[in-house]
Amino acid sequence: MVNIQKAAVIGCGFVGSSTAFAMMQTGVFSELVLIDVNRDKAEGEAMDLSHGLPFTRPMKIHAGDYPDLKDCALIVITAGANQKPDETRLDLVHKNVAIFKAIIPEIVRYNREAILLVVSNPVDILTYAAQKLSGLPKNQVIGSGTVLDTARLKYLLGEHLGIDSRSVHAFIIGEHGDSELAVWSGANVSGVDLDHFCELCGHTRHRENMERIYQDVRDSAYEIIEKKGATYYGIAAAVARIAQCIVRDEHSVLPVSTNLHGLYGVKDLCMSVPAVVGRHGVEKVLEIELSAEEREEFLRSAVTLGEIAQSLKL
Ligand SMILES: NC(=O)c1ccc[n+]([C@@H]2O[C@H](COP(=O)([O-])OP(=O)(O)OC[C@H]3O[C@@H](n4cnc5c(N)ncnc54)[C@H](O)[C@@H]3O)[C@@H](O)[C@H]2O)c1
Repeated sequence: MVNIQKAAVIGCGFVGSSTAFAMMQTGVFSELVLIDVNRDKAEGEAMDLSHGLPFTRPMKIHAGDYPDLKDCALIVITAGANQKPDETRLDLVHKNVAIFKAIIPEIVRYNREAILLVVSNPVDILTYAAQKLSGLPKNQVIGSGTVLDTARLKYLLGEHLGIDSRSVHAFIIGEHGDSELAVWSGANVSGVDLDHFCELCGHTRHRENMERIYQDVRDSAYEIIEKKGATYYGIAAAVARIAQCIVRDEHSVLPVSTNLHGLYGVKDLCMSVPAVVGRHGVEKVLEIELSAEEREEFLRSAVTLGEIAQSLKL
């Protein structure tokens, strides 16, 4: 039996420690286990985080090992190499698949009930790898996918329009990486078509502006890595949001990376599309309407990822 309020983070680097910090702020967890090959790192992070507890809500944060996963309801995996300047996310695949081959069997040895939430990159390929290596039901193994990219899109559109980013409804789907795409055809501000809303704000040149915003979203990780070496606060906030949605069984629609099972004709591959997320992971994958051009881009994204996934022979 899992404890719905107990979670673990495997990999306590920039992303893992920031994620633990963001999860601690949510107040929905009573226990958080931190695991890293570098035990000192996990212990140091657990101590540092715990010293902030008097300012949040009581919970237990401690370093641990795989047997401590036994009753976790959620296991977040952020272990692995990160991108160096000039590296793409897909360049990380062999290093991080090797790490997953060590981690995933250890997880399922102690716990086959938890939701596995993959964050390490390339996240779509590693979510696929985690599904294959764990043998768990596919809805139970999900990736953070384009939840972060979608937040970046909403933020930039919010800035462009001078509007609260939470009132902007738009998705980035496909690969969390260079072939991702923005679904402009369905984008809106609280039900008002995006182009129309732009005109109300005095913006014309939709194509040009949207292309610039899309490129800023797609390339923002490169820019941040160039300037500060790694990205972690944005993804930490995104993971805490997904984590809350699972623990509180919210049934929110989030663009997580999930096995598509033939959606848009894509079989046995993980990519991001809007999906209903709750206590059981992905509960329903939504087939949103795409323009012919968007569908073509999505399928191109699938071909790139499919070739890599097949080459791993998992
Ligand atoms: N999905 C996203 O949107 C997103 C965003 C940012 C970063 N990332 C990815 O997250 C991952 C982590 O990035 P980071 O900046 O935290 O890197 P980092 O180097 O700071 O941390 C990685 C941690 O993983 C640990 N680790 C390595 N092998 C391990 C193993 N076998 N078992 C347990 N722990 C192990 C390391 O000791 C280290 O502490 C990278 O793959 C990065 O690309 C994903």
